[in-house]
Amino acid sequence: MQVYHTVAALRDCLNAERAQGRSVAFVPTMGNLHEGHLQLVRLARQHCDVVVVSIFVNPLQFGLNEDWEQYPRTTEDDIKKLESEACDYLFHPDEKEIYPNGMADQARVVVPTMTDIHCGASRPGHFEGVTTVVTKLFNIVQPDKAIFGIKDFQQLAVIRRMVEDLCVPVDIIGAEIARDHDGLALSSRNSFLAPDERLKVNHLYEILCWCRDQISGQNGQAGRRDFAAIEASATQQIAELGFRSDYLSVCNAKTLEPAAHDDKDIVILGAMYTSGARLIDNVTLTLK
Ligand code: PAF
Repeated sequence: MQVYHTVAALRDCLNAERAQGRSVAFVPTMGNLHEGHLQLVRLARQHCDVVVVSIFVNPLQFGLNEDWEQYPRTTEDDIKKLESEACDYLFHPDEKEIYPNGMADQARVVVPTMTDIHCGASRPGHFEGVTTVVTKLFNIVQPDKAIFGIKDFQQLAVIRRMVEDLCVPVDIIGAEIARDHDGLALSSRNSFLAPDERLKVNHLYEILCWCRDQISGQNGQAGRRDFAAIEASATQQIAELGFRSDYLSVCNAKTLEPAAHDDKDIVILGAMYTSGARLIDNVTLTLK
């Protein structure tokens, strides 16, 4: 695997790959790679000839009181993992390379409305930081396809919307959520969990599955459509575990607005606070 730190050097080598007719898949990350990221890399390999991964802990998407400084940086380990997946190129720029004019006056990419709800409500400016850096990375790498995890469901929906609205010529591919043995969605922030919390955070996924089963109906029973009551009950279940929920919402899977009774594609989004981390997860269902 070749590692590049500058836009110019990466562009040169990817131009040469494209000149030979090779397609390029891109996996943007913030490093601290786990099995979930490696599954994205494997999916990228299935889709294209050349696989590019980026590692950049993007300060623009972190709020002032958030964990940008504490965010785990494990580049040497990450490189070994990427080499074992036969990744072709790693782009690992520093902040100056991505924001040469500083961040304050950086041109921004904004997807309105759907970024103000759910994670966007508790992390103002977060999605603007994501869409801005992803646009820059897309312009640098110019991939045919880009792979994002479905775990960050809202991020994936926002990026799909950005690509559609701005006619960005990149196919966006969502990759299934990688889970630990007990169902906990893999995340770099799981390393912030206290041992006693780790034993019970997997229940977030169980609660989301409970919501899904209530809506789809089980054992011959009709599915429920009283979404607000389901959300309230799920929020109560989270509180009983000793966690504070940020939101738990039954939504339309495309707009992320509250689901209407006749919506077919539904996502149940959940986020909760532990002592050292904010965890998110989701489950989807399609109604007939
Ligand atoms: O999902 C992430 O790791 C980040 O939000 C991304 C897409 C790499 C942008 O910094």
